[in-house]
Amino acid sequence: MNLIIFGPPGAGKGTQSNNIINNFNLKQVSTGDLLRSEIKTQTDLGKKIKSIINNGELVSDDVVNTLIRKIISDPKNFNRLIFDGYPRTISQAFSLEKLLKEFNQKISIVFNLKVDKDVVSKRVNGRVICIRCLKIFNVYLNPPNSKNHKCEKKYLEKRTDDNSKTILNRYETYVAESKPILDYYNKKEGLLFEIDGNQKIAEIYDKIKGILENISDWHYVCFLYKFPWKNLTSLIYGSYSRYQYPSR
Ligand code: AP5
Ligand code: MG
Repeated sequence: MNLIIFGPPGAGKGTQSNNIINNFNLKQVSTGDLLRSEIKTQTDLGKKIKSIINNGELVSDDVVNTLIRKIISDPKNFNRLIFDGYPRTISQAFSLEKLLKEFNQKISIVFNLKVDKDVVSKRVNGRVICIRCLKIFNVYLNPPNSKNHKCEKKYLEKRTDDNSKTILNRYETYVAESKPILDYYNKKEGLLFEIDGNQKIAEIYDKIKGILENISDWHYVCFLYKFPWKNLTSLIYGSYSRYQYPSR
């Protein structure tokens, strides 16, 4: 099953994606993380991306869609992706649907983490990330300690776009460009799940887990229902008869 985790900056998309991949056999695709790796390559494209991210604007759909195509086309990722921070524009949503169709897949769930603007800014200002294990913490709300983090402290860093000025731009970009996507997914029956993202990390995860477990059970029932039992029976019976009565 493929799913989208949607919400404003600092909503907890990365935090919840991490929780999900630890318990379900899914793979997280964060376009933010992919773009930050591109910055590290120091190419012209990387430099351009850095300036866009630090201004709180969106990188072009073409660049992002190309990164996503590479991931969806990889057979190892078949039907097990969590899209974190993608799609972010209507055009990206269309492109995702087209790409998934091309590779015989679809989106099963969209989680929308609803978080108030003032909560977002506190979360983003306190965020630190381990550049080694990629775990996300918060110096005020979810501080790293010897129990929840095994890497050395020197690996903990702040993101360059996590400052009061950029966060305002990021939030405005979200409202103008990304939020309208919700209408698009809302029109697709049974796809969109609204989650109160102002709650504690564990409470939010419990809700997500409950929904995912229900959907997984439902997918299993559908699989059993749609499975070509008739073909399997004749296949087994066919091999059995060949074994009993080998052709001469
Ligand atoms: P991206 O990296 O995706 O940033 P974002 O969308 O702004 O979201 P964040 O990563 O800031 O927040 P999050 O929701 O993951 O929250 P987290 O779990 O870390 O994108 C960065 C930039 O890249 C964009 O601005 C854009 O320029 C570009 N970009 C990316 N994708 C793009 C695309 N598709 N198209 C074009 N451009 C693109 O949590 C935040 C903090 O809160 C942490 O400290 C965490 O510990 C804490 N926290 C989380 N949940 C809770 C909770 N429930 N209670 C208390 N604290 C919590
Ligand atoms: Mg994130």
